[in-house]
Amino acid sequence: MSLSEFSKQHIASLEEEMKRKIDILNAPLTIKEAMQYSLEAGGKRIRPLLVFATIEAFHKDSMMGLETAIALEMIHTYSLIHDDLPCMDDDDLRRGKPTNHKVFGEAMAVLAGDALLTYSFQIIAESNYDTVTNDKKLNLILELSKAAGSEGMVGGQVADMEAEGKSLDLTGLEYIHIHKTGKLLEFSVLAGAILADASDKQRKCLSLFAYHLGLAFQIQDDILDLEGDQEIIGKPVGSDQNNQKSTYPALLTMNGAKEALHTHVSEAKRYLKESGLDTSILEEITDLIANRNH
Ligand code: IPE
Ligand code: IPE
Ligand code: MG
Ligand code: MG
Ligand code: MG
Repeated sequence: MSLSEFSKQHIASLEEEMKRKIDILNAPLTIKEAMQYSLEAGGKRIRPLLVFATIEAFHKDSMMGLETAIALEMIHTYSLIHDDLPCMDDDDLRRGKPTNHKVFGEAMAVLAGDALLTYSFQIIAESNYDTVTNDKKLNLILELSKAAGSEGMVGGQVADMEAEGKSLDLTGLEYIHIHKTGKLLEFSVLAGAILADASDKQRKCLSLFAYHLGLAFQIQDDILDLEGDQEIIGKPVGSDQNNQKSTYPALLTMNGAKEALHTHVSEAKRYLKESGLDTSILEEITDLIANRNH
């Protein structure tokens, strides 16, 4: 199956079930609307696709990853809602629409983020797919907590905020990229490996693949912040410069950033080959990430 066919099918299932998960909540209408607003604003759904494509590489039923994929997209969406707040990057546009706080106000945007974050763990715990055992759920929740929290994505966001207006060296900048973006992408692949019962060797190759993919992903995000078209990326161009962020192009020049992107893409693909799995869709996702214009 090609990536476009694979994406179409899987994203349709994801979006349908994600919407249902919000509909069934017994909660005030405002918070449900604020959560749903950012979830359905679109987005590439890269993290869910990585969960599904990793399970597919083992020739197992990718739908066993549905709840984990929804959980990941919810945590990712919460991180974007908070990232756009005036106290953080102060951006008005996300996924081609006004940011959550522009529509619902800052307090509700903070709460919508909180609600998406906590709900994600509940959704994994409540998965009733028969091969998703309690042991696997516990392992998924453990790894997702680590990837999203202060040792993971939040830690990266902290370093990103603290580096505003300062010039970092490559090690400092890599810490930010690996954590704020890489950790959730790494978890996406790890979740697939946990669900599909990967061997130690397969897990190791997949985890090195995801590490390089994560760096490549954020380098391209930095490049698009400068070279992207606002209509296509669906968020403001030049946000990083306005906020005096440390980025790959700022540190290495645009050419240097593009070289680094290619290096990480080649490394990612090398580890995919080494895994010995059927990784054609993961390979296509890697190319998509490197060449994406949004
Ligand atoms: C944007 O992530 C924020 C980063 C971690 C770089 P995506 O580029 O995956 O955003 P969406 O989900 O497609 O909107
Ligand atoms: C944010 O990085 C990563 C998150 C954890 C949300 P950016 O601040 O570069 O993401 P964009 O460019 O606003 O999507
Ligand atoms: Mg940011
Ligand atoms: Mg931002
Ligand atoms: Mg960015």
